Amino acid sequence: MEFKKILVTGGAGFIGSHFIRHVLNMRPATQVTNLDALTYAGNLENLRDVQSNPRYKFVKGDITDTKSAAQTAEGFDAIVNFAAESHVDRSILGPEAFIQANIVGTHRLLEVARKLKIKRFLQVSTDEVYGSLGDSGSFTENTPLAPNSPYSASKASADLLVRAYNHTFNLDTVITRCSNNYGPFQFPEKLIPLMIFNARSNKDLPVYGDGLNIRDWIHVEDHCAAVLEVLEKGKSGEVYNVGSDNEWSNIQIVKSILKELGKPESLIKFVKDRPGHDRRYSIDSSKIQSELKWAPKITFADGMKRTISWYLDNTKWLQNLQSGSYQKYYEQQYVNR
Ligand code: NAD
Ligand code: DAU
Repeated sequence: MEFKKILVTGGAGFIGSHFIRHVLNMRPATQVTNLDALTYAGNLENLRDVQSNPRYKFVKGDITDTKSAAQTAEGFDAIVNFAAESHVDRSILGPEAFIQANIVGTHRLLEVARKLKIKRFLQVSTDEVYGSLGDSGSFTENTPLAPNSPYSASKASADLLVRAYNHTFNLDTVITRCSNNYGPFQFPEKLIPLMIFNARSNKDLPVYGDGLNIRDWIHVEDHCAAVLEVLEKGKSGEVYNVGSDNEWSNIQIVKSILKELGKPESLIKFVKDRPGHDRRYSIDSSKIQSELKWAPKITFADGMKRTISWYLDNTKWLQNLQSGSYQKYYEQQYVNR
């Protein structure tokens, strides 16, 4: 089913901003409202190209504020919930914000959806809810939840609330669980943009532990296309894994960035490991591929090349983010590590 009025929460962040652009491009009759609290990770610059589109509207607001979320959601067909605290390292430094935004926030938004009889609620979740893998195997939708960080535990809790609202209140819900995203507009606390920026300025590249942890990378535009497919065609109550069969160790990623930038490997600095660091993620996305006919389109070689050039061409975007609060976080996270 095509929805005519979609409320996107967290749309000023990395993935949400790409999703809004994707919907406006792919669904010419659809209106999108973006409800975002503009935390440190929310940046309206990510949506500069659509800000004057008559089918797009921004509302500053927090999903934990039921009254304003309900006012904003009135008359909408669907809610797509991207709003969250999203960085694992920050959840280790301070879990409370994650409990508020990811658990309390999702619960309040579910209540809004229930009371307003919103036709469909899509929860954007993550593969991290499944925990960590050994050398073989992949996460399927039937893998038991075993989150290891305050971030992933808060996302798993939200997923359970979504499941309960579907089961108990008959709210039409779907959940997507995607692997690691990369692409333009990602906040430079995450591996790929952080390494590009540090390499560009000849700063140390801080690799946690032995650098052999594995992540399964997908281009953000492929993820957004999957979210729209699930929103329109997914079966109520179901979970859909999203991934691109693209596993790399962190050290391989870091070395490939250095190579692309023509910088020496001597910039790599192995630092103390992340506490509770998940070893390997691998997503089995055969369900969404066979049932909804979605498939990733962007190869890693091409996607990374374009991503690196985008960051190099958008240094102003970065400089605007590297405010006092980013410097403070960077020092807390990396200095004397
Ligand atoms: P992000 O940190 O870049 O953006 C999060 C956005 O949510 C920001 O704009 C922020 O202002 C907003 N926000 C935070 N708390 C809010 C609140 N209480 N009310 C309203 N807005 C709030 O995150 P991202 O990387 O774009 O991730 C988006 C979603 O996708 C998250 O739910 C995350 O768990 C999930 N996810 C991310 C990845 C990834 O690799 N980045 C992979 C799978 C799933
Ligand atoms: O798997 C999906 C998840 O991917 C999302 O749910 C999260 O929102 C997103 O942040 C991401 O989590 P990760 O912890 O995997 O991403 P991050 O970019 O923080 O780290 C990727 C890997 O790189 C991880 O093994 C830790 C390592 N790392 C990260 C940073 C920031 C380093 O070695 N050094 C670093 O400085």
